[in-house]
Amino acid sequence: MGNKMLFFGLSCILLAYYTYMPIPENLEEPWKVRFIDILTKITTLMATLLEYTGLMKFEDLFFIITKTQYIGPISDENLTVIDTDFSNIPVRLYLPKRKSERQRPAVIYIHGGAFATGSFKMLPYDFVNRMTASRLDAVVVAPDYRLAPQDQFPAALEDCIVVVKFFLQDKVLEKYGVDPAHICIAGDSSGGALAGSVTQLLQDDPEYRNKIKAQALIYPGLQAVDTWMPSYREYENGPFLSRKLAIRLSILYFTEEKEAIDAVLRNEHMPEGSRDFFKFVNWSRFLPEKYKKNHVYREPVLGKLSTFFPVLLDRRLSPLLVSDSQLQKLPLTYVITCEHDILRDDGFIYVTRLRNAGVPVTHEHIEDAIHGAISFVAAPMYLHSGLRIMDKYISWLQENL
Ligand SMILES: *[C@@H]1O[C@H](CO)[C@@H](O)[C@H](O)[C@H]1NC(C)=O
Ligand SMILES: *[C@@H]1O[C@H](CO)[C@@H](O)[C@H](O)[C@H]1NC(C)=O
Repeated sequence: MGNKMLFFGLSCILLAYYTYMPIPENLEEPWKVRFIDILTKITTLMATLLEYTGLMKFEDLFFIITKTQYIGPISDENLTVIDTDFSNIPVRLYLPKRKSERQRPAVIYIHGGAFATGSFKMLPYDFVNRMTASRLDAVVVAPDYRLAPQDQFPAALEDCIVVVKFFLQDKVLEKYGVDPAHICIAGDSSGGALAGSVTQLLQDDPEYRNKIKAQALIYPGLQAVDTWMPSYREYENGPFLSRKLAIRLSILYFTEEKEAIDAVLRNEHMPEGSRDFFKFVNWSRFLPEKYKKNHVYREPVLGKLSTFFPVLLDRRLSPLLVSDSQLQKLPLTYVITCEHDILRDDGFIYVTRLRNAGVPVTHEHIEDAIHGAISFVAAPMYLHSGLRIMDKYISWLQENL
């Protein structure tokens, strides 16, 4: 009991410390962001306490909170919205009602949530997909893939691939009036990772090559090799997504082993003999000078984990782990990065590498936004930057899809 009291006391001190953290300069709506940040930190603390007392697992509280944002499929004057499944994977479909002479473009949108939470049913995702379908006069398909830790790598990716392949069948495209030459795969955060992986895997599959016209990646996480890039250092404590929270949730995609979590936090998780993989994510080569600031590149520390996790070297987890010749094949790409985001450098590095490989890329870097901004486009919490990101994403699709 004494231990638990001490733990509780320390937690309160920690909380007070967090609450007094200065707001970064150059953030839009700093007080709202601070509020979101504090709520997230309180939730993290509560989740830690609940896990410590054995009441529930750390990730459960986050799952419960996202679940409170679920809404059903609601059709409106412009769209028919239905929940159904493609090959037993749940999907929400947004189908424009207006009669159309031409076939419509389509977007497959893969939601984020660190592989452990999230759903197309969440109000913000529903809103983004609704706006996309309505403004673009497009069919939008939003899959709900299996989540960690119940279903680990590559379950989420496999589900997304099943949905995409099901949708790409001629008879299905025809049924929904979709133009097979105008299909985009999109996603945010861990959904951006999945979108990136799906696009790569389809391009490498002779049966599906060139069936995807474009990919749109919104602040994607694209690697698990180096968790100490400049953005991971600068935004270690948030706002909103701290490095520790991101790692604790997303690692569940492949392990619940405590030793592995600690190793990833220390950035000493890669196995012996994996130095060669670092060339794909080496920020000292690929990050624009402006963002390197005075950070010093450190050689990787390898072989500290007693368990070997082959997934760490798997490009289906880290789309950055492919050679330039594999990148060359990729379609037109849109990347949004946010400045106040540990995943900023993942996005920047992918942009640099894709451009070096000759892939046409539009990159928007939003200097005054946080990770997850697009999840704050619906009540009760609005961020202007979230609405701006949604607008930019839809406008890009209007011009390019
Ligand atoms: C339906 O589309 C019209 C025209 O684009 C738009 O003005 C209206 O707001 C849309 N309705 C909804 C519910 O989104
Ligand atoms: C990373 O790139 C720098 C040059 O910018 C180089 O000196 C270093 O050896 C590289 N490290 C790895 C692990 O590839």
